[in-house]
Amino acid sequence: MNTSLSQYAIIFAWLLMLNIVGTCSFNIHCNQKDKHALLNFKQGVIDPSGVLSSWSTQQDCCQWKGVMCNNITSRVTTLSLPCHTTLPTYTDKVDKSHCLTGSIHLSLVEFEFLNYLDLSNNDFLAIHFDPVDSQTCHNISADTTSRQCVNSSVLGYFDLSDNTNLIIDSLEWLSRISSLDQLDLSAIDLHREVDWLRSVTMLPSLSYLVMRGCQLEDLSPSLEYANFTTLKLLDLSDNEFDSELPKWLFNLSSGITDVHLGSNSLRGQLPKALLNLRHLESLTLEHNKLNGPIPDWLGQFELLQVLNLQENMFSGSIPTNLGNLSSLISLAVNANQLTGVLSERNFAKLSKLKVLIMGISPPLIFDFDSHWVPPFQLEQLSFSFAGPNLPTWFYTQTSIDFLSIVYSSFQIENEFHKFVSRRMIMLDLESNSIDGDMSEVLLNSTFIIISSNDLKGGLPRLSSNVVGAVLLNNSLSGSISSLLCDHEMSSGKSNLKFLDISLNNLSGGLTNCWKNWRTLMHINLGSNNLTGQIPPSMGLLHNLTTLHLHQNKLYGEIPQSLRNCHSLLIFNVRENNFSGNIPNWIVPSAVAIQLRSNQFSGTIPEQICQMPSLIIFDFADNNISGHIPNCLHHMTSFVFNNASKSKLTFYIALGNIYYECEDSLDLITKGQGLHYNTNLHFVTLIDLSSNELSGSIPPQMFNLVGLHSLNLSFNKLVGRIPEEIGNMKNLESLDLSTNQLSGEIPEIMSKLTFLGYLNVSFNNFRGRIPSGTQLGGFNASSYMGNPGLCGPPLTKYCPQDTKSEDMKPYSKDNDGSHFLSWFYIGLASGFVTGFWGVCGTLFFNRKCRHAYFTFLYDLRDRFYVMIVTKRNLSPSSNKFLLWQ
Ligand SMILES: *[C@@H]1O[C@H](CO)[C@@H](O)[C@H](O)[C@H]1NC(C)=O
Ligand SMILES: *[C@@H]1O[C@H](CO)[C@@H](O)[C@H](O)[C@H]1NC(C)=O
Ligand SMILES: *[C@@H]1O[C@H](CO)[C@@H](O)[C@H](O)[C@H]1NC(C)=O
Ligand SMILES: *[C@@H]1O[C@H](CO)[C@@H](O)[C@H](O)[C@H]1NC(C)=O
Ligand SMILES: *[C@@H]1O[C@H](CO)[C@@H](O)[C@H](O)[C@H]1NC(C)=O
Ligand SMILES: *[C@@H]1O[C@H](CO)[C@@H](O)[C@H](O)[C@H]1NC(C)=O
Ligand SMILES: *[C@@H]1O[C@H](CO)[C@@H](O)[C@H](O)[C@H]1NC(C)=O
Ligand SMILES: *[C@@H]1O[C@H](CO)[C@@H](O)[C@H](O)[C@H]1NC(C)=O
Repeated sequence: MNTSLSQYAIIFAWLLMLNIVGTCSFNIHCNQKDKHALLNFKQGVIDPSGVLSSWSTQQDCCQWKGVMCNNITSRVTTLSLPCHTTLPTYTDKVDKSHCLTGSIHLSLVEFEFLNYLDLSNNDFLAIHFDPVDSQTCHNISADTTSRQCVNSSVLGYFDLSDNTNLIIDSLEWLSRISSLDQLDLSAIDLHREVDWLRSVTMLPSLSYLVMRGCQLEDLSPSLEYANFTTLKLLDLSDNEFDSELPKWLFNLSSGITDVHLGSNSLRGQLPKALLNLRHLESLTLEHNKLNGPIPDWLGQFELLQVLNLQENMFSGSIPTNLGNLSSLISLAVNANQLTGVLSERNFAKLSKLKVLIMGISPPLIFDFDSHWVPPFQLEQLSFSFAGPNLPTWFYTQTSIDFLSIVYSSFQIENEFHKFVSRRMIMLDLESNSIDGDMSEVLLNSTFIIISSNDLKGGLPRLSSNVVGAVLLNNSLSGSISSLLCDHEMSSGKSNLKFLDISLNNLSGGLTNCWKNWRTLMHINLGSNNLTGQIPPSMGLLHNLTTLHLHQNKLYGEIPQSLRNCHSLLIFNVRENNFSGNIPNWIVPSAVAIQLRSNQFSGTIPEQICQMPSLIIFDFADNNISGHIPNCLHHMTSFVFNNASKSKLTFYIALGNIYYECEDSLDLITKGQGLHYNTNLHFVTLIDLSSNELSGSIPPQMFNLVGLHSLNLSFNKLVGRIPEEIGNMKNLESLDLSTNQLSGEIPEIMSKLTFLGYLNVSFNNFRGRIPSGTQLGGFNASSYMGNPGLCGPPLTKYCPQDTKSEDMKPYSKDNDGSHFLSWFYIGLASGFVTGFWGVCGTLFFNRKCRHAYFTFLYDLRDRFYVMIVTKRNLSPSSNKFLLWQ
């Protein structure tokens, strides 16, 4: 009380002074009660970048950042402090270090005039609503619950979305803000709030309710109190509902215009009761498990503008009745099990259509009248069809910005040049049979993917519009200089960030033209026939995050100039003829270094230990000698397994679409070569096999608790396996074969429950193989070549054994299930994922999906924001598109 009195006094004196000086007069003076409430709020906030620095008692609180007052009453009506974050480009972690964190203390009773509250996209960790204070409610009888003080709030708009680390256990407090009209709690973890629906239905004037990605599980099927009478928009996408569409949905006010339930696991057929929602303008049910036919009564929604049914299990044909939806702007039905023939009747009245996404798996069969002129002009078109010729109506569409025709084995018959050099935002013609000569082509779209076709001739040229070009897996030949040394670009106009021309027949050197392409972030020239040295000018690529030069015939030393590539995360020169010392300067922030199968010599530089983010350290099959450095325990990512929880992925925003291009590496682990992309960031691997390493394995190496795969085979290592190996709880693959290691195999290794591959063969180990565990479950070839070893699975008895007890063949018991750790599953899918899975679009994992959605989604401006998803591009899989 004293402090607030003295605050009054100071402010009063200050205002008085201003009045005396008379130079300035305020129209608005901050209400002291509001100021007090704001300062209370500020107390809970941690503000690393000084967002609230203007919130000083010297200043009128109506002038504080984010605060707005009513002109007449001077009461605080708006508090708007959303955090602005930038789109990440090479990580799926959004940098929020400048955002507000700490806790939100709100006393809604104090903020009695506050109407608009936006704290979205910050990093708040807790929220506290002060218990209703007895003074305000004193005239209400003592036995009442808090709910009877509801009229103290006038808050209409409340946006708390995308505080992704915020967990809220109960939404009980919502009932005290009964004035709420718009509420957005997206991406807040609400999985512990089972009664969320009851809490939100207590809000009598709610019109916008957005709870995307809240980890909600229960969508109470029937609920008599789901009586939202004023609801216009309901967005519960990206939760964990696995029921049928709830019955209460069909009882919602007939005024509802938007229903978004995508990215759940909803089951069953679409019930006809949906027709109760007569005023629907937008219905998005993508990425669920809905089945049955696409009902023809959907054609009765006269006002429907957006219909998204993609990525479900709908079967049958696309009903021609959908051609009656004359208001329709966006239609997406791809990635279902739809069959049947598509003709102009399906589109008869769709004169407003701008976005059409259909097809893939199985490809659609087109039967269009060749004279048909569609009533629409599309902006986004995506389909795959049972080729080979594009329907003639396609050529009437002259406004397309996003075009994707994939897995259709179609050919471009006429005017190949014109077709592929169209200027669009996105041109994706992946996996068709396009066989044109590219050498005279100038590519002009912002992002171009013509991978896995039969393109021939030299490389095309790129205009300065091009940000990404993916031409991998074709038959392009000639030198890369035709693309890189183009005169047009010598003035530094290029915007190219992403270049993948791997898996072609390109030859010649790496050229010295890199100075023209300083914007490049990702380069993949792997699996070609390139030769020569790495030119020093590559060191000018300061933005470079990924350099793949694998499987070529490059030679020489790695130039020192590459140390200027400060952003380099992945450096892959596997299978070339590089020689010289291992560079000792590689950027400390690197995540993966793959020097496998070259002729590097010298010793392993100790600098490697100063790379806290390294997760892939593959120097196998070189001529490296000397000892293994004994500082490896400084590599925190191998110790704590916490280095790269973000995907190694390149993100690019193209208009409203956010594209994701996964990085990938081929690694050898568990005795097999695997292609990792989506789950690359989960792997931790050290492979120093097939070198000339000598000395003993430093004991610190066995403290790398986070390591998954260790291969030291085919070296000249001596010494024993220390007991510390028992620490390596995450180890899944251990290959020490073909060295000169000795001693016994420590009993403690039987505690390594994830160990799925072990090879200690061809060493000098002796004694009994620890029994009764999965160690005995490995094949004899894991232990062979050690004359002193005995016991199963080897056929040699240990001296003290009796035949009957120990010679039972060891059966792999239930322990096998331990292998199904998350990582193991990861491995398997790494393998399954298509080899060409390089450039896909968006959002494999759900967390990241809504993290990105933040940038794209706005409560009011929700119109056809489109997000494209494509999980992987193996021919058997679908291309997923998700949009609304
Ligand atoms: C709630 O409304 C009632 C009637 O309008 C009024 O008497 C009471 O003071 C209000 N309570 C608060 C806390 O504003
Ligand atoms: C909905 O019904 C419940 C129980 O019948 C009632 O308590 C609540 O006030 C109602 N809500 C609205 C918004 O009408
Ligand atoms: C739907 O509303 C009707 C009447 O308004 C009511 O009788 C029925 O129980 C409600 N159904 C559900 C599932 O809430
Ligand atoms: C809708 O389309 C179907 C088939 O295309 C047609 O038979 C029906 O008459 C149409 N209904 C309306 C209301 O236009
Ligand atoms: C690779 O390039 C060399 C010349 O540099 C050539 O002789 C050889 O045939 C090429 N190999 C392939 C597979 O194109
Ligand atoms: C990993 O965890 C350790 C110990 O908690 C910490 O010192 C290190 O900074 C972390 N590394 C990263 C990249 O988060
Ligand atoms: C270890 O490396 C050797 C040679 O590089 C390879 O043959 C072996 O398969 C690898 N071991 C594992 C477990 O991957
Ligand atoms: C273990 O390594 C040796 C030598 O490389 C090899 O012959 C044997 O097949 C390997 N065993 C297993 C189980 O991979």
